[in-house]
Amino acid sequence: MSERHITYDRIYNTVDRDNFDSLIEVDRYADRTDAFDSIISATVDHFWDPTDTRYVDFNSEPLDLTEQLIMPTDFCIELKTSVADKLDAQQKIRLANQNTRFILSSILHGEQGALSLSASLTQILRDPGAMEYAANQTREEARHVTGFTNYITTRWGTPLQSGSTIRSLLNEIVKSPAVYKKLIGMQMLIEGLAMGAFATIQRETHDPLLKRLIQFTMSDEAFHHKFGKIWADRTIPQLTEEEHEHVELWAAEAFQVLLFNLVNAEQKQEIYKEFDLDWQWVRSAVLEAFSEEDRRADMTNNTNIFRVLIKTLLKAGIITDRTRHVYQAWVDMDELAKEGDEVAGHDVAMAAMEELKLINGGRQKMGARFRTN
Ligand SMILES: [Fe+2]
Ligand SMILES: [Fe+2]
Repeated sequence: MSERHITYDRIYNTVDRDNFDSLIEVDRYADRTDAFDSIISATVDHFWDPTDTRYVDFNSEPLDLTEQLIMPTDFCIELKTSVADKLDAQQKIRLANQNTRFILSSILHGEQGALSLSASLTQILRDPGAMEYAANQTREEARHVTGFTNYITTRWGTPLQSGSTIRSLLNEIVKSPAVYKKLIGMQMLIEGLAMGAFATIQRETHDPLLKRLIQFTMSDEAFHHKFGKIWADRTIPQLTEEEHEHVELWAAEAFQVLLFNLVNAEQKQEIYKEFDLDWQWVRSAVLEAFSEEDRRADMTNNTNIFRVLIKTLLKAGIITDRTRHVYQAWVDMDELAKEGDEVAGHDVAMAAMEELKLINGGRQKMGARFRTN
């Protein structure tokens, strides 16, 4: 049941990963949707290259991480608890920056998940247009992997290990043959989390280099989000009651796992060791300092990652009365329903695209000169 295929719109038809013969059937090639053509051709407008200093120069903004914070202290939840009483000023800076390193490492692992997942879609989608979209997304996720690797290498040398929550969700959706799981899991849950996190980080960071890297990444992610929306618009209304229930329950379960585990102390135990902090003690300090009420208050911020995620699921038509209570406990669902369906960070993504058009326009002129001379 859990690995069944739910497609409805034929553009999401899949073939078995090893069934190459079905892809070279002569009447498959022309059976191509144009639903993604505008997203595919827009890729040229938001092209960027993390190895080219005209886009991002990783050596341009040296930072002394023993003195300077990448994110405001506010961003480090532990420092708002009794953990802070155990640390001196230098250690507080170090913990805050290590916390940022953990978040950016999780984003890097998420980008690798997105790369592997979109690559897996290119192997199972039957429609040549859908396949072309997935190939394009694969290429964009690959540059995000390079971009975040370069950033983390510049600031810290190496990324931190993936926490078990993100590791198991990524494993589940990358390996699943079920296209709905891949699309809800990646395009909605993970990309929803990422857009919320990117919007917050780019707004709050003290590091201009990180701001720039994230803005360009967001210009790509906005289109990935759009692809998920096209899938939902064409699929969710067609589901039978039983299928809708199946999809909806899976989404609610994945949401809860992320909500309760994504950034808790257990996931971050690697970073506490050097401060001689026991992760279970840190966890109880955090629980003591923050009530569910604080968490709800946090979710009124429109770039809160979980709020962005709930809105994505709600606007996709996945949430009904069956699971509404799961989300209603945290956010005002009526208020969310009234909001426009633009994803958080859309304005930043569009502004980044304008800048990319200028850089890319300059490159094209140079190319033209080379050709005529
Ligand atoms: Fe990405
Ligand atoms: Fe993406």
